[in-house]
Amino acid sequence: MTRSATAIAHPNIALAKYWGKRAGDGNIPAVPSLSVTLAGMSTTTTVSFDDTLVDDELELNGAHAESSRPKVRASQLLDRVRAAAHTTTRARIVSVNDFPTASGLASSASGFAALALAAVRAAGLDWSAEQVADLARRSSASAARSVFGGFVELDGGDAPDGTPSLGGARPVAGPTAIDLRVLVCVTTEDAKATSSTDGMRLTQQTSPYYPAWVADAPASQRAIREALLAGDFVRLGELSERSALAMHACAMAAGIVYMTGATLSVLEHVRALRSAGLPAFATVDAGPHLKCLVRSGDAAAARESLERVPGVLRIIDTSPGEGARIVAAGAGGAT
Ligand code: PMV
Repeated sequence: MTRSATAIAHPNIALAKYWGKRAGDGNIPAVPSLSVTLAGMSTTTTVSFDDTLVDDELELNGAHAESSRPKVRASQLLDRVRAAAHTTTRARIVSVNDFPTASGLASSASGFAALALAAVRAAGLDWSAEQVADLARRSSASAARSVFGGFVELDGGDAPDGTPSLGGARPVAGPTAIDLRVLVCVTTEDAKATSSTDGMRLTQQTSPYYPAWVADAPASQRAIREALLAGDFVRLGELSERSALAMHACAMAAGIVYMTGATLSVLEHVRALRSAGLPAFATVDAGPHLKCLVRSGDAAAARESLERVPGVLRIIDTSPGEGARIVAAGAGGAT
């Protein structure tokens, strides 16, 4: 007997960055963040619980991932689902990304959001989106945000009254809340050298700027939410670029450098566009790709110009999109 479900999820890009984890269990961020879920890139994942399997199986982008780190992380998520569904049945996971994996394009966000939703549905659990986001967050904190569409916040650190955060994620505004296009400037097809988890740990342990980052991030996240809700694109762009540079400065002081020469060339170009009167802003995650924020009316001109920057391999044109969703589900007979 098999029970399977297929989910699609999109990556998200943080405008207010999360970097660093709170002490304790649950993979809860040390700071609150705010992201936009991006249509234009997707992960499609099918989970099939199958009584005939002796172990979980993972096929990632057409390759079997036996006893690899992705497989271990996927099995840990499935173990939580099995515990909730009171079953021990193993599952087959087939997951495909239509964009580079593990290179700072947030494939872990869309990957774990799609896996969490497909696994919950295939196990027959009737969970809310908040519960699915909580499950996804335990594997990859940013994945909690990809469960929802549009603009999404993820709690971190302590609430203003000192209560520790539970790492909840929730939508703040729908995809059409502000006119925004995100031009993803792909600078390599390779996987990154330092995972975000390792990069965060080293930053927390050794960056002299980590306490300043944690102290500044909540006010920065609030200001970004205000700019978004006020529909102020320029302020949103300025604050988002600042959040990304603060995160990278903090990590760099721990010896973690995700930007390459190509990233810096694109950053310089984005700033030159701005000086020339085109409102374009930059954000960069734990990888070398720069994401350029523009209004839709400026997207074609910005794209044409960014394509000519040496080191830019291609540009993925994305806009705010939907949250994770089920696209197929069903039960089959004995296999
Ligand atoms: O959730 P993780 O482990 O993929 O870390 C995400 C970290 C950043 O992408 C750099 C920032 C963010 O908030 O997405």
